[in-house]
Amino acid sequence: MHGSTEAMVDHLICALAERGIASEKFNLTVTDLGRLAVSLLDAATLVIGSSTVLMGAHPSVIHATAVANVLRPKVRHAAIIGSYGWATKMTEQLTAMIPNLKVELLGTVLCKGLPQADDLAALDALADTIRDRHTALGLL
Ligand SMILES: Cc1cc2nc3c(=O)[nH]c(=O)nc-3n(C[C@H](O)[C@H](O)[C@H](O)COP(=O)(O)O)c2cc1C
Repeated sequence: MHGSTEAMVDHLICALAERGIASEKFNLTVTDLGRLAVSLLDAATLVIGSSTVLMGAHPSVIHATAVANVLRPKVRHAAIIGSYGWATKMTEQLTAMIPNLKVELLGTVLCKGLPQADDLAALDALADTIRDRHTALGLL
């Protein structure tokens, strides 16, 4: 809608790159789900990003999350980031949609409108957590 979620995603990708972690970004409104499935097979961490639509996640994100749950990739960690205007239940909704993924939830970063300095700091902290988990897995 206004690029808020994409700004968060891009910030997190840069923060992860600074920590030596490669990411793949998918715009789920146009993504080939086959490509997403292949990427999920090798991923250690899944970060779901979405704007809020009618209190929940964007319909394209709901669709892709349902597919990820059915595919049961061996992803080890998950996090949710996104944007809202006034109120959101996307964390509860998306968390409930991935019972097949045996993941540790690393946290949620939600911001009102465009991300501000404290939101970007929270994304940096999330990148630190992901780095620590990947180091513990021997991936870094
Ligand atoms: C059709 C539509 C429905 C929305 N529903 C909600 C909602 O239920 N709760 C909310 O907090 N914001 C809602 N919003 C506002 C967006 O979530 C908010 O503007 C957000 O910052 C957009 O993020 P984006 O720029 O990443 O798309 C809605 C916006 C649209 C266009």
